Amino acid sequence: MSAMTLGKLIGVGTGPGDPDLLTVKAVKAIQNADVLAWFAKEGRRGNGRGIVDGVVPAEIIEVPLYYPVTTEIHRAKPEYVDQVTRFYEESTATLAKHLEAGRTVAVLSEGDPLFYGSYMHLHVRLADRFPTEVIPGVTAMSGCWSQANLPIVQGDDVLSVLPGTMDEDQLVRRLSDTEAAVIMKVGRNLPKIRRALIEAGRIDQAFYVERGTMANTAMTPLAEKSDDEAPYFSIVLVPGWKTKP
Ligand SMILES: C[S@@+](CC[C@H](N)C(=O)[O-])C[C@H]1O[C@@H](n2cnc3c(N)ncnc32)[C@H](O)[C@@H]1O
Repeated sequence: MSAMTLGKLIGVGTGPGDPDLLTVKAVKAIQNADVLAWFAKEGRRGNGRGIVDGVVPAEIIEVPLYYPVTTEIHRAKPEYVDQVTRFYEESTATLAKHLEAGRTVAVLSEGDPLFYGSYMHLHVRLADRFPTEVIPGVTAMSGCWSQANLPIVQGDDVLSVLPGTMDEDQLVRRLSDTEAAVIMKVGRNLPKIRRALIEAGRIDQAFYVERGTMANTAMTPLAEKSDDEAPYFSIVLVPGWKTKP
């Protein structure tokens, strides 16, 4: 009896939203995969899945991976850690079955898979057991600063990428010690981010982009944004590069 050839795991970056920002390699991987897995909130389709809509073959096996919790429980609570760990373990087992059966499994990841992507939790559990490939994607920050026509770093500038979930004093500290910054995971953290930017003296350079490169995108200098409403898919850019050479 010959051993079954293992299937390949492919982490596929979908880019930030505009389907035209999918790479040729990402499209080929999706079209040649047997299984298409994607993360989403229960009952939703997931942003990554929406981006690739036009290129998914009809016969592909779709495996939605529904997060048990998102922001309902604080991420530091043991209850959150337990539920999310169990979810990644179960998702790993589901995909491992397909890989053991010799199927190619493409896992969608919005933006770039290895840059704050949920795909990483599967990657670390599966990459030592199955052949694995990662297809990079255009990151959200890159899509957003391009859409905003905003040069971000130049020369010896330091760029700091900060999660908006950080404590306010840590945000102030980091913003005070960098030329440029990108603040991810804005959403409900926007009031805190705004206060930190004011405290660090950077509010006048801060630029807000929501749903960058998507059809319903919006953007404005943060100081001109009159409310603190922000969707999950929003980012704040603080360019370090202000003067022309
Ligand atoms: C879990 S991270 C995923 C990052 C992604 N892997 C990447 O390469 O950019 C999610 C955060 O990315 C940012 N983000 C993702 N897509 C975005 C978009 N189209 N416009 C603005 N921000 C976006 C938001 O700050 C969001 O909270």
